[in-house]
Amino acid sequence: MLSITSFVCLLLLSLPLLVTAQNIHLSSIPHLSPGVFKGALFRQAPFTPTTEVTKALFENWDAKDFIAVDDRVRGGKSQSYLEVDSKKKTARFYGHLDIKTLGNAGFASQATKSDQKIWDLSKYSGIKFTTLEGDNKRYSISFKNTFLNQNPDGSQESALEYKYLFKGRPRKSSYFVKFSDFKPTYRGRVVDNAAPLNTSDIRVVQFQIASGFGQQQGSFSIKFQDIIASSL
Ligand SMILES: *[C@@H]1O[C@H](CO)[C@@H](O)[C@H](O)[C@H]1NC(C)=O
Repeated sequence: MLSITSFVCLLLLSLPLLVTAQNIHLSSIPHLSPGVFKGALFRQAPFTPTTEVTKALFENWDAKDFIAVDDRVRGGKSQSYLEVDSKKKTARFYGHLDIKTLGNAGFASQATKSDQKIWDLSKYSGIKFTTLEGDNKRYSISFKNTFLNQNPDGSQESALEYKYLFKGRPRKSSYFVKFSDFKPTYRGRVVDNAAPLNTSDIRVVQFQIASGFGQQQGSFSIKFQDIIASSL
């Protein structure tokens, strides 16, 4: 006969199994098929996948939402464009990065231009984005909590930006970047001890290419397919 004590013991022993089963992602265990889980060991513990909540930053790309912020504002000659495909599903960031005029410096960027639009992404932990047809140059995506109007001469004051650098691969590539991995920078330099990005108050989304002190230059091109905030 099963005594109360041994029953309790069994229950306690199986507890860790039940607990882990809740947190396991089937996809993270390639050698066990979901069938194995359902059929035997974990029958008592229903598998509850973490539900991902997402929000697209740009439902449909529109070039009119962006403005060029190139080094011309500091006397350089770089130039960038944003070109949206006919179905509004991709945005191509391209142009020419000049480093001669400013002595190995130089940048080109496209930034959202509305002071009306504010993204509240506080429910999410980071963004996913997909790029296509890159040219192996280094690009960045950045967020700003400050919106600054461009002056009539095209120049713009600098603001703290939170930047993620990546290499634009020729093949379709997807990234998931936590907000905490966006580095606070000011005029291209990392700022120590900066306040973290306020994810409830994002006012600018910006694509940029910079020379990195002469490391890259010339024509550039990359396509963005989507940028999606994710709770994962
Ligand atoms: C973040 O932005 C929200 C909305 O503007 C504001 O209420 C809040 O105080 C900000 N948080 C910090 C830490 O600045």
